[in-house]
Amino acid sequence: MEATLSVLDAKTAALRRRSIRRYRPDPVPEELLRDILQAALRAPSAWNLQPWRLLGVRDAATKKALREAAFGQAQVEEAPVVLVLYADLEDALAHLDEVIHPGVQGEKREAQKRAIQAAFAGMDAKERAQWAAGQSYILLGYLLLLLEAHGLGSVPMLGFDPEKVKALLGLPAHVAIPALLPLGYPAEEGYPSHRLPLERVVAWR
Ligand SMILES: Cc1cc2nc3c(=O)[nH]c(=O)nc-3n(C[C@H](O)[C@H](O)[C@H](O)COP(=O)(O)O)c2cc1C
Repeated sequence: MEATLSVLDAKTAALRRRSIRRYRPDPVPEELLRDILQAALRAPSAWNLQPWRLLGVRDAATKKALREAAFGQAQVEEAPVVLVLYADLEDALAHLDEVIHPGVQGEKREAQKRAIQAAFAGMDAKERAQWAAGQSYILLGYLLLLLEAHGLGSVPMLGFDPEKVKALLGLPAHVAIPALLPLGYPAEEGYPSHRLPLERVVAWR
């Protein structure tokens, strides 16, 4: 088992992170993963709806089946853990009392609930799923940095058949799956980062 001696600061983790697709067989301690997830769940979301949900897969047979749904990508089967990040807006909207701040009470609270329901009333199922997936990518960003900061390698993945993954894991048809995230202690360095220069993507007025 890998002892985590120190945690990297956010800037160091951002500069060091690369996609890691090969892992050592060492198990990832559940306590460490819970600690990382607890911090990642501080990610912000519009209306504070937190529509993201996570399923941690460690079972070998399930990972093998997930690999097949991911067009045979080996990292899905070989990672000690695969986090399935999905977004369930319907679940979030059905439980608004969980997410509205406890400091908001009475008529203000009811008005907030009505405003949130109204904001989504005009969206069809596809738009709702896309909206919730967009929020969930904020959590994914937090997770990528936190995993790196704690010495764990991971690779975000969109290369899979979402319908097959839903059927395999028994997820409701309406959910979006923004990413699979295989993770573990790195057994490779990953490719050196290649990024657009700041001037290409940032403008000022
Ligand atoms: C949303 C998303 C989906 C991705 N899907 C895959 C994938 O299916 N398989 C894979 O090997 N890498 C996948 N990647 C990894 C990217 O190829 C990688 O992040 C990019 O090339 C930059 O390299 P770096 O992560 O090492 O900095 C994905 C990355 C993101 C953010």
